[in-house]
Formats: sequence, C-alpha cells, structure tokens
Amino acid sequence: MTETRAQDGVTLSWEDLAAEARSARERAYAPYSRFAVGAALEAADGRVFVGCNVESASYPVGTCAERVALGHAVVSGARSFARIVVASGGAVPASPCGMCRQALAEFGLELEVMSVGGNGVATTWRLRDLLPAHFGPQQLGLAPEAAS
Ligand code: THU
Repeated sequence: MTETRAQDGVTLSWEDLAAEARSARERAYAPYSRFAVGAALEAADGRVFVGCNVESASYPVGTCAERVALGHAVVSGARSFARIVVASGGAVPASPCGMCRQALAEFGLELEVMSVGGNGVATTWRLRDLLPAHFGPQQLGLAPEAAS
C-alpha cells in the first residue's frame, strides 16, 4: 500500500509513522548496497506516502527511499508535508542524503524529519536545519509560491 490515512482528525503517532517506514523498507530493492531503507512521508492532510530505495546495476541510477515517497505523494496531488520518517537497519540512524534534502526542501523547510536505525534509536531534525541556504526558486528569479 502506498497511501494510508489516520482516522478522521486523529494524528498518527511517530511510532505509527515509523511502522509505515519500516514496512516500506521490507520492500526495498537494494541488491548492491544491501542497505535497505524505507520512508513514510506524511502530507498536511494526513495522507501517508511510502517509499523504499530502488537500486540499479547502473549504480548512479538508483533512487533513495525519500524521493520515491515524494514522487508517490506528488503524483497523488500532495504538495504540503508535515513529517517524514526514514527507517534503516544500521546502528546509527541514516540521515537523508543531500539530494533528498534538496528534493524535500522544494516543498517546505518546516518538515520534521525522523530517522530510525535498526535498533529503534531515533534522531529528529527540522529540514531547515539539515539544509541551510538551500537552492530555491528565488535563485532562479522566481517567487517562492511559483514552485507550489
Ligand atoms: N539511501 C536511502 O534510500 N536513503 C537515505 O537516507 C540514505 C541512503 C539508500 C541509497 C542506496 O540505495 C543505499 O541507501 C546505500 O547508500
């Protein structure tokens, strides 16, 4: 399932969102790195979109879990997001890579980001703190709302 939604007006707990990310991680296609990652991206309207990393024999073609989740969200009409949980298997929670930070920043810097490692240890950040001075539409001479 790529989309779930909390029952009317009820906010998902962080643990519920992490469970979605861990479930997505089980479907990761990572035969090269063997580093499976899942992500659960919560839209402002409560919908949750999941992603997993999808690798390729042509290594640079592989995609991270976060951008797969973002693609699911955008094609479903969601462009405003509240939280994302990234689930990986290592002892140290994996923080989103630079490319994923930039991709997520397109839709707002107030996003709360949680990363959960294999032992359940979690770290949280605000996207604004993970990617200060991001490249945005203003550098292209466009108003910020042009991108929304
Ligand atoms: N990866 C993600 O999917 N998300 C992250 O936050 C970090 C890295 C993936 C990319 C690649 O398939 C594997 O993990 C090893 O880098």
